[in-house]
Amino acid sequence: MDISGEQVKVPRHVGIIMDGNGRWARKRLLPRNAGHRAGVQRMEELAVHAQEMGVEYFTVYALSTENMSRSKEELDGLYNLIRSYFSKSVDELYRRHAAVRILGDMAPLPGDVAEKLYEAEVNSPGDATFHFQFAINYGGRAEILRAVNDAALLAHRDALEGRPPARYTDESFHDLLYTKGMPDVDLIIRTGGEERLSNFLLYQAAYAELYFTDVLFPDFDTGEFDKALLDFSRRDRRYGKIRPGE
Ligand code: IPE
Ligand code: IPE
Ligand code: MG
Repeated sequence: MDISGEQVKVPRHVGIIMDGNGRWARKRLLPRNAGHRAGVQRMEELAVHAQEMGVEYFTVYALSTENMSRSKEELDGLYNLIRSYFSKSVDELYRRHAAVRILGDMAPLPGDVAEKLYEAEVNSPGDATFHFQFAINYGGRAEILRAVNDAALLAHRDALEGRPPARYTDESFHDLLYTKGMPDVDLIIRTGGEERLSNFLLYQAAYAELYFTDVLFPDFDTGEFDKALLDFSRRDRRYGKIRPGE
């Protein structure tokens, strides 16, 4: 793939921490939820663009476990945006051979929202070429704790049946995470100026390249996305090794 005449290596899996919606709205004297609405539009545009650029896995951080303590008004606005996005846009995603996966605990969400998300996932095409993950009520720590508790239950079952407990490998442990079967995230982009992960993909980000920008998410257009791809492409990913000849 070419960006401004430069041949780039496109990351297979991109994650985006979509931050800055509230500040974008405040600058315009609008309610916070107007910022979230603008953010959803941006997210749709970026997903199409990422797919065109050759990204295979695209994961967006929409709502963290910590965000669940925001005001009822803000959460209701976010749930409405999720309802309308998953009613209107999911068929278009399938038409583009995209599969949906939800990362996070759906149980505390309003029942109809949880149901819509579940349906979007199970009705996804089996032969998808693009994988769109929505992290909703997601936290990296909660995800790891859930895996540990599942592992303990499996060990208990093994003990009852007289088998020794399984020893986990990186791969078999990953099978207990929401991202089971997916490649690790290669590039994490965070908009909105903060330089932290805020509990996003803690296990999967072990060797992710991190890209931080002050641009607020509703202003993060496809040109800004390409800047992140170009920056990623120029990084030297060594994974703890040294380059041959050094
Ligand atoms: C990120 O934008 C989206 C969610 C957390 C739902 P924020 O709502 O955190 O926006 P700022 O950081 O207040 O600008
Ligand atoms: C991270 O943004 C979560 C999402 C973008 C969904 P926050 O605005 O919640 O993060 P902090 O509080 O600044 O770390
Ligand atoms: Mg924020």
